[in-house]
Amino acid sequence: MQIYVDKIFLDNYVEEISTRFNYEIVFEKPHTNNYFIYDTNGLSLTLRSNNTIKLMNINFMSGKLGWRLKRADHESNLKKALGKTKNSLKIFDATAGLLSDSMIFLSLGHKVVAVEQSKIIYLLVEDAVKRSKNEIPFLKNLNLINANSLDIYKSSLESFDVVYLDPMYPIPKKNIKKSGDLNSLRSILESENILIEEDALIDSFMQTDYKKLILKRPLKAKKLYSNINYQVKGKSTRFDIYL
Ligand SMILES: C[S@@+](CC[C@H](N)C(=O)[O-])C[C@H]1O[C@@H](n2cnc3c(N)ncnc32)[C@H](O)[C@@H]1O
Repeated sequence: MQIYVDKIFLDNYVEEISTRFNYEIVFEKPHTNNYFIYDTNGLSLTLRSNNTIKLMNINFMSGKLGWRLKRADHESNLKKALGKTKNSLKIFDATAGLLSDSMIFLSLGHKVVAVEQSKIIYLLVEDAVKRSKNEIPFLKNLNLINANSLDIYKSSLESFDVVYLDPMYPIPKKNIKKSGDLNSLRSILESENILIEEDALIDSFMQTDYKKLILKRPLKAKKLYSNINYQVKGKSTRFDIYL
């Protein structure tokens, strides 16, 4: 993986990620399909699919996520899934992705450990956090980790009030166009040769010692385990809650 930087934007941060992840910094546009660009927008990823090139950049202050955050109070299904509480909860997000769900948890005053297995997705999110942490104070309650979440959970000395799982499900054909972010996540994982083994991930977490596990599922998907305690249903997805 290469990071394309105009020399005027070269700084300690991009040099540090190049060393940490063994990504090469280049000063000329690469001819490959996937590479990072580092400029005034921070870190972006070029993704080519079917002859179109897409630029992926995470920004917590604008776009779909900015909009979700502004109305975090109305994220009633996620709030219902967490349950009524006046206390700040410790939440373990085992499938961090683009961090949209965790940003809602954080904005509600909770503390989050969020783990993402993909280096590329992790870096895009880490950079977005770095760019907005002065404007979004609750980001201080986030611990973002690049690893396999099961390993981190099993070796953690902390205890968590909630484990949150939002695995990647096959997208029904009629929703493919609407699933832009999920499609991008899929092609990133493919480019990193990461297998999508979500059923195994759910199974493994179900066998851990959790207080409360929230599993996001497509609305019409079968219940996976019989010990489900309750469900919170939205338009296209639902939260299955295990206690
Ligand atoms: C559907 S996305 C999650 C979207 C996320 N909830 C959001 O709001 O942006 C699933 C993510 O979980 C990650 N993932 C899957 N298995 C994982 C594991 N064992 N450890 C860490 N991350 C994992 C995938 O790489 C992918 O980015």
